[in-house]
Amino acid sequence: MPTIIDGKAISTQIKDELKEQVAKMKEQGITLCLAVIQVGADPASCVYVRNKKKACEYIGIESLSYELPEETTQEELLGIIKELNSRKDVNGILVQLPLPKGLDEEKILDAIDPLKDVDGFHPMNVGNLSIGRKGFVSCTPAGVIQLLKRSGIEIEGKECVVVGRSNIVGKPMSMLLLRENGTVTTAHSRTKNLKEVTKRADILVAAVGKPRMITADYVKEGAVVIDVGIHRNEDNKLCGDVDYESVAPKCQAITPVPGGVGPMTIAMLMKNCVESYSLQNQ
Ligand code: GUN
Repeated sequence: MPTIIDGKAISTQIKDELKEQVAKMKEQGITLCLAVIQVGADPASCVYVRNKKKACEYIGIESLSYELPEETTQEELLGIIKELNSRKDVNGILVQLPLPKGLDEEKILDAIDPLKDVDGFHPMNVGNLSIGRKGFVSCTPAGVIQLLKRSGIEIEGKECVVVGRSNIVGKPMSMLLLRENGTVTTAHSRTKNLKEVTKRADILVAAVGKPRMITADYVKEGAVVIDVGIHRNEDNKLCGDVDYESVAPKCQAITPVPGGVGPMTIAMLMKNCVESYSLQNQ
């Protein structure tokens, strides 16, 4: 039977470590504050934003909440970001995605001070990651690395295949695995003979965005399978990009959905918030 990687437990462990760290910082008179901006009321975004604020509260990070109407203009949003960039008491700025149509996501993310970009989406942080410099790393892929490390799974020298090449997950995931000395292949929707490629993987990360696409015939016996997907199936139950029932029996270790990668994203956001202080004061 495979090891089932418990993302909920690992994320709680990380949050508890951070809570302690934040308490120590408070003793030195240091407080942390995250600004969370949401435009419109996308239901999934509302849940994510609520959970982010709850995590801040748990750890002892202050949160500033901007719940802006759907009709917010580009100029208004850029104005708020500019103000938050200049505020000494704000350490992190997060603009919840997706943004309503009419707002230029690229311009808005570019406007966030890279030293406050706790999502790690700014080109400066993406560039820093690719050349091995300090900076913020996108939370979901950073969470995957923590899951592997804290489960005692070695990355160095392993064949790692990432399926998906999004800016938020796939690309930074590949960069991080490379940084950990994995031998990395990034596969995607145009990859020929995808199954042959994924079957080489010792560590397979599925970030395709298609419910249960990765079935047993994509997976090598004894592989570690990390499922970044989150979907609702026909019975309204949560499922991932991996067909868990057929894949799990072949694996050395696997993440479930829910309770695998999901809870790690917010834990890593909190870690970025805590680390923002030293990045801003070096
Ligand atoms: N929307 C979906 N995932 C994310 C995330 O990690 N950060 C932000 N800001 N928006 C998201």
